[in-house]
Amino acid sequence: MSSQFLRVDRDGAVATVTIDRPERLNALDTGAVAELGRAFAELGRDDEIRAVVLTGAGEKAFVAGADISELAELDAPGAERYAAAGQGLMWSIENLGKPVVAAIGGYALGGGLELALACTVRWAAAEAKLGLPETNLGLIPGFGGTQRLPRLVGRGRALEMILGGKPIGADEALAWGLVTRVLPREELLDAVQAFAAKLAARSGMALRSALKAVGEGSNMTLDASMRLEAALFGVTCASADAAEGCQAFLEKRDAEFRHR
Ligand code: CAA
Repeated sequence: MSSQFLRVDRDGAVATVTIDRPERLNALDTGAVAELGRAFAELGRDDEIRAVVLTGAGEKAFVAGADISELAELDAPGAERYAAAGQGLMWSIENLGKPVVAAIGGYALGGGLELALACTVRWAAAEAKLGLPETNLGLIPGFGGTQRLPRLVGRGRALEMILGGKPIGADEALAWGLVTRVLPREELLDAVQAFAAKLAARSGMALRSALKAVGEGSNMTLDASMRLEAALFGVTCASADAAEGCQAFLEKRDAEFRHR
């Protein structure tokens, strides 16, 4: 499964999606957003794939944002539709039901950072620069950045990034919890793929439930999210994977999960 701006490589239960437009620093135009949407829909349906790595081609960038040449042409209704399409892609990544790990090798700006924010986990190269520079262009983030960034790093830091427009480096992003690991660039992709393979070997059922509890629960009141957690705990506890995991513990052996 590959297309004009994307490569999708499979290795066992891990798929690596590479945004492949390095001459534009992997900027996302409408076609790339649509291609990513199709690729993630297919990966979501594919039971053989249990974890996804998302990265950008080339040395310089993860994704340097939405394609500014397209933005310059949009009127208000067109721009609203454009944002809704980008937000739809981010929603489908966030709600894939399997972990998606971003390998951020360089610039993750604007729509590129918003794409990373929709992923489950973000690891970065020491050279990475992360930011929401839209206000430099007289714009605001439109692919979910005004909502996901404050939830992740807090309102003050998010507003500093959004209003100031200045990207932060990988170490600062680590200190703020925007990424959870910083590695030398040459080690990043292998390390992220190895991490994804470890996730893929765990119970797919348990990971799906945990992703749902954290993802859906964070949009609810505390009472409602506790009821959701209890319901998901019930379903997960009655699964074949839970029976196998608990039995394996009691028999002092490794569990063999069947992801249901
Ligand atoms: N859209 C379109 N083209 C882009 C681009 C983008 N977001 N980012 C980079 N490019 C293009 C450049 O125009 C350039 O093309 P040419 O070779 O044809 O001139 C090529 O990629 C290489 O980029 P630079 O020469 O600029 O590389 P640099 O190393 O000097 O600078 C950079 C790198 C600081 C990332 C700079 O490219 C830059 O500031 N890019 C724009 C970042 C940005 O503002 N992103 C937010 C976009 S708006 C958005 O994303 C809205 C939203 O929320 C949905």
